[in-house]
Amino acid sequence: MFQQTIPDEHVLGQYIPLHYHYNMLLDQARMSSFRDAIEYLTPPGAKVLDLGGGTGVLSHFAASKAGHVWCVERNPELVRTARRLMRHNPFGHRVEVIQADAMEYLPPEPVDVVICEMLHTGLMREKQIQVIGSFQERYLAHFGGPLPRFVPEASLLAVQPVEQPFEFSGFSAPIPFFQDSGGNHEQTRGLCQPLVYAAVEYDRALPERFEGRTKFSMERSGQLNALRFITKNLLAFQESEGSAIEWSNQYLVVPLRQTFDVAAGAEIVVEFSYGAGCQLEELLDSAQVIPLSQWGAIPSDRHTAAERRAA
Ligand SMILES: C[S@@+](CC[C@H](N)C(=O)[O-])C[C@H]1O[C@@H](n2cnc3c(N)ncnc32)[C@H](O)[C@@H]1O
Repeated sequence: MFQQTIPDEHVLGQYIPLHYHYNMLLDQARMSSFRDAIEYLTPPGAKVLDLGGGTGVLSHFAASKAGHVWCVERNPELVRTARRLMRHNPFGHRVEVIQADAMEYLPPEPVDVVICEMLHTGLMREKQIQVIGSFQERYLAHFGGPLPRFVPEASLLAVQPVEQPFEFSGFSAPIPFFQDSGGNHEQTRGLCQPLVYAAVEYDRALPERFEGRTKFSMERSGQLNALRFITKNLLAFQESEGSAIEWSNQYLVVPLRQTFDVAAGAEIVVEFSYGAGCQLEELLDSAQVIPLSQWGAIPSDRHTAAERRAA
């Protein structure tokens, strides 16, 4: 309903207000990981395409080594901002800011590297998959292979069953929320280690949907009432070092419709299904836990630990 009435590019997740772009420049972990990865993957004099350029910061990182960067952005306010900011930077003259839809734009010649940061937890909300899928198809049809290197090169999507109090200064609200990936979240109690449900490699065929069906064995007892989604992006593989430059999106904690009392050793299956780039509601509506051992995971009729205490 929501998406039918509001044009796609105005839906939060794809439309990102200008001040939020400025905040992204303050995120040191994001900035340094992307700068290192882009510098690592960009050969001197390279041709680079930046899809969804925003303020142009990632194009700027590439421009320190590249011969030419096409920075493609569809939001006119950001196009103006990126052009203005390029004038403040020594390699700005190597960056051509283009107002266009990344789903349609192709550079005038083959490129060595494609940067695309339309990354959101679980690859929901933003169109990373659709934009790169469309680029792959049109680029191969127009220029032939090989495909350029992509930043990020891959994303790993994981899920973790957790116990989570949904109480906010005494206000009970089982709502989805985001956590800083580098933070210390004492209130979120992992009941076992996260497991990967999808690995996306951007130079391969890309999935349209994510169908999670993952079996977990509980490592500690507790009240299972939420799932935490963790998305780690491998920005650049460093083949010679056998490692990768990584950056994680914010964690997403989503409440389950039902709470389970789980014992250590209990086995459960976590199931969900959502489309790449979808709104959070699609995940919320589909997420469920199925207990495998009859006595190990008992559905509890209350929502939160606090509600149980109060009862
Ligand atoms: C998460 S922001 C990243 C911006 C910038 N690359 C950075 O790292 O700071 C994603 C950007 O992609 C742009 N975008 C989303 N869909 C687009 C499309 N179809 N064509 C062009 N730009 C798009 C948004 O306007 C936004 O500026």
